[in-house]
Amino acid sequence: MSSRVFKLISEEAHRQKYGLEMIPSENYVSANVLKALGSILTNKYSEGFPGRRYYGGNEVIDKIENYASDLAKKLFGVPLAFMQSYSGSPANMAVTMAVCQPGEVVMGLALSSGGHLTHGAHLNFSSIFYKAVNYSVGKDWKIDFVELEKLAKKHKPKLIWVGTTAYPYKLEYKKFRKIADLVGATLVADIAHIAGLIAGGVHESPVKYVDIITTTTHKTLRGPRGAMIMVTSLGLKRDPEMKAKIERAIIPGIQGGPHNHQTAAIAVSLEEALKPSFKRYAAQVVSNAKVLAKELGTISEVHLILLSLTNYGYGLGYQAQYALEEAGMTVNKNTIPGEPASPFYPSGIRLGTPALTSRGMKEKDMVKVAGWIKRALEEIRGLDLPKEQEKRKDFLKEIKEKLHKSINLKKIRKEVEAFAGKFPVPGIQ
Ligand SMILES: Cc1ncc(COP(=O)(O)O)c(C=O)c1O
Repeated sequence: MSSRVFKLISEEAHRQKYGLEMIPSENYVSANVLKALGSILTNKYSEGFPGRRYYGGNEVIDKIENYASDLAKKLFGVPLAFMQSYSGSPANMAVTMAVCQPGEVVMGLALSSGGHLTHGAHLNFSSIFYKAVNYSVGKDWKIDFVELEKLAKKHKPKLIWVGTTAYPYKLEYKKFRKIADLVGATLVADIAHIAGLIAGGVHESPVKYVDIITTTTHKTLRGPRGAMIMVTSLGLKRDPEMKAKIERAIIPGIQGGPHNHQTAAIAVSLEEALKPSFKRYAAQVVSNAKVLAKELGTISEVHLILLSLTNYGYGLGYQAQYALEEAGMTVNKNTIPGEPASPFYPSGIRLGTPALTSRGMKEKDMVKVAGWIKRALEEIRGLDLPKEQEKRKDFLKEIKEKLHKSINLKKIRKEVEAFAGKFPVPGIQ
């Protein structure tokens, strides 16, 4: 253990144990997932697919990849599951390549409305190599299906994404299917954020309504970083060539050899997600989010909360993230729908309960957490973002230093550390 890296890992372990991790796309994996991820499977090259590899020596790797795929098919109830995408973004790129020719139209929820970069955002491959059209949320922060239908009829997309990164409501897949059918689009659900809720039965599954599903494996699903692509019976009916098209998009399209240690660790997490205890976990995640949201004066139907800070002042996302971090709580600044400040200096924060719930926290704990959040947020009152753009960078640097010295935030941090330290984290002593 002489490498400097292990010292740094210990430092990070301390942060993960004594802080409250509330980034809604993060989680704590089990000790068995960690074990598979850190295994000798990382030594092997396996370009190609089971039974059709470019290299020898893949008998065991074939069994692992097939097993992982079978578990995914069983968990989500789909006929096809591909396990090789390195992460969510390359999975989405592979699906876009499989469905669309360069220059064809893809539609997805705008980044500023809670969509993901790969669904057609500026500067992303999805808008560089394809014609991206974005739909958005309305004044009620919910997806505007009237606008979506209008845009679909006008632009005739080849692919419509339904998936979110910062959306606190449940998704109504049936409504998306109706619109996709009006224009003959392939409908793809990116369930990255809510995969664990779907697997746990607390969010409707898109399987009946969409053609393809992509997901990361490291968020609510509680696996290692990674991704899966799944095709539904509807998707196979729409295009019987879909299997070959997706495989070609993965390799040679965008990737080389799969990460076998990652595939094995995903399989371990899928085994865990198939157990009855995972259903209880998923229900608790949502129940905790509902309580936390209510205590903070807002609403959540899923695992995450999008909190507007406009009641505290102007453009306070950064300031809130800094203050909460000083108080031992990790969240991220986020734009809110109709962002009144700036996409770079937003007016909200995004937080969630998947990681806290994995540590065994319940509703009564969320009331305490909300109390600490509210106390920490009192420290950002009066720290409004300057209206003059050129002053903003220096202003935030000053604010960060000021918050670092705050006695009140230090006090909260002590309480948070004493509380968090009582909840075990797998893989951390
Ligand atoms: C909905 C959605 N899709 C895709 C991704 C991309 O995943 P990755 O960060 O693994 O590339 C994310 C990540 O936040 C996401 O929220």
